[in-house]
Amino acid sequence: MAAFTLPAHSVVKPGKLWKASAAATRVKKFIIYRYDPEGNQNPRTDTYEVDLDACGAMVLDALLYIKNTMDSTLTLRRSCREGICGSCAMNIAGRNTLACTKAIADIAGEVTIYPLPHQPVIKDLVCDLTHFYAQYASIEPWMKTDSATPPDKERLQSKAERDQLDGLYECILCACCSTSCPSYWWNSERYLGPAALLNAYRWISDSRDEATGERLDALEDPFKLYRCHTIMNCTDACPKDLNPARAIAGIKQLMIKRKM
Ligand code: SF4
Ligand code: SF4
Ligand code: FES
Repeated sequence: MAAFTLPAHSVVKPGKLWKASAAATRVKKFIIYRYDPEGNQNPRTDTYEVDLDACGAMVLDALLYIKNTMDSTLTLRRSCREGICGSCAMNIAGRNTLACTKAIADIAGEVTIYPLPHQPVIKDLVCDLTHFYAQYASIEPWMKTDSATPPDKERLQSKAERDQLDGLYECILCACCSTSCPSYWWNSERYLGPAALLNAYRWISDSRDEATGERLDALEDPFKLYRCHTIMNCTDACPKDLNPARAIAGIKQLMIKRKM
């Protein structure tokens, strides 16, 4: 299936209007990006009039209402519907977030929905995150040790050591942060982006991991780490209230410390 890189929103032309039934009294318009690689047509935005009395409270509920009752061709990803799996990440009302935790009531007026920005689009709201996941894999997100495993117990941490992982381990890899980062838009081939770097810092911060030097060596590169210019979009975008910008600053501080 061919992939298509999302163009500037302004060049996407309006498509079809799907009207609510005449009986609906609380109607809200959802303007949704549509692209079918097999249709040989430019992307468009279709407008769906959703009867709010007939669907649930979240944007994902509205999308499923549209798919189930109005237009079964609308394509999106979702799984957990409670902010755990990260698969329903998309750009809603101009911000990257999770459709399942975004309340319709929090959006004034029409709701615009696009796929995550600057990623190849596979179909409609589904983009290709292969490169994003490969970057995550590149930071080797598992515990590395050289010392022998204790024979009679797990590798233990103090409470203070465990606390160091708070704000890091909760990442659900939704990509909202990386795809809102201008540095990532411009250099995503070489800059790892906030999600991968936050996860790198998660392992660097783990008292049980014995590969800190190796992990820092791997990030000591003009692009992988240092393309972060502290623009802070990432932290603003994270639907789990994590702070990737602070994690990146933490890695940079460790880089400086080990040179002193
Ligand atoms: S702080 Fe760094 S990673 Fe976050 S949006 Fe800005 S440049 Fe991107
Ligand atoms: S840091 Fe937040 S926005 Fe970024 S991938 Fe993890 S959960 Fe998503
Ligand atoms: S469906 Fe899993 S995070 Fe939204």
